[in-house]
Amino acid sequence: ERTETATMIAAHELLKKFYHHLLMHTNEGEEALSYLLHRGFTREIIEQFEIGYALPSWNAAVTFLTNKGFSLSLMEQAGLIVKKSGEDSYFDRFRHRIMFPIHNHHGETVAFSGRALGNEDPKYLNSPETPIFNKRNILYHFHEARVPMRQKQQVVLFEGFADVIAAVQAGISHAVATMGTALSEEQARMLRRNASSVIVCYDGDRAGIDAALRASETLMEAGCYVKVAMIPDGLDPDEYVRKYGADRFRHHVLDASLSLTAFKLEYLKRGRHLQNESERLRYIEEAVKEISRLSNAIEADYYLRQLADEFSISMDALREQMTLHGKKQQ
Ligand code: CTP
Ligand code: MN
Ligand code: MN
Ligand code: MN
Ligand code: MN
Repeated sequence: ERTETATMIAAHELLKKFYHHLLMHTNEGEEALSYLLHRGFTREIIEQFEIGYALPSWNAAVTFLTNKGFSLSLMEQAGLIVKKSGEDSYFDRFRHRIMFPIHNHHGETVAFSGRALGNEDPKYLNSPETPIFNKRNILYHFHEARVPMRQKQQVVLFEGFADVIAAVQAGISHAVATMGTALSEEQARMLRRNASSVIVCYDGDRAGIDAALRASETLMEAGCYVKVAMIPDGLDPDEYVRKYGADRFRHHVLDASLSLTAFKLEYLKRGRHLQNESERLRYIEEAVKEISRLSNAIEADYYLRQLADEFSISMDALREQMTLHGKKQQ
């Protein structure tokens, strides 16, 4: 007699294989497969991530699960199917979507994220919270990334599934992503337990940068050594790798990642014309304000010195400005 959660996991495992088969070996799956191949996913990587395809049907999963002997009410609790309101019948949650299986840290399939093939809303449809899937406790690809993470004592944190897959394809196996939500304290602790340093590599757009700053704070609070990678031109990591290649991603993005403070100082420069004197002064003022938030005096001095060199200002003037920002907590 299996427990209910074991049955839910068993259903996910079978459905994962079914979706994967539909993608790789059927006419119905051709459109989805060619979408993935055009995006630059190789067959090998599609196999490795066990990506699949859900048919544009209201009852393909319902029928599949019924034939396998699963209770539909339990399958509804597992998030795989949806109950029609006021009726005793069910329909498929995922229809005409590319299916990314999501694993827990034991490697068991516990959820799916389904991507639309076109511009339909939502772009990604995720499994709801269920007894086996708690978004706060799960990171995409954590199960596979754990060994390389431990070996390198480093992990690269992405925003999206596609970014992780592109990274792995580029040979960066210590890669994970959140589930489309802000990084939770639990997820930060999961990373800290397996690696000392984290490179936050979020999208280069405004939303990505803001999210990267928030994730970095959460990671620092968990005791991680944090670096932030900057992706130029508003690209996301997946787009960057496809456009410029794996080598450049490694050397110009990951190896060039900055400490959180350096990242913030760099970010403050964005959109400013520093050749303009008043903008330059404003930047310096904001930079000093940022540096004054550092609790480590050596670190603060280090960044002040950089600022002094960069703009040919005396350290005395910068230190004086620092005291204005109430560097009194020490
Ligand atoms: N996301 C989500 N629901 C949405 C949009 C996004 O859950 N409607 C999550 C997904 O996990 C996605 C991540 O947020 O991977 C980042 O979103 P976005 O940058 O918009 O997507 P990409 O990962 O770049 O996806 P793609 O390249 O397929 O467009
Ligand atoms: Mn797996
Ligand atoms: Mn984004
Ligand atoms: Mn993105
Ligand atoms: Mn993308």
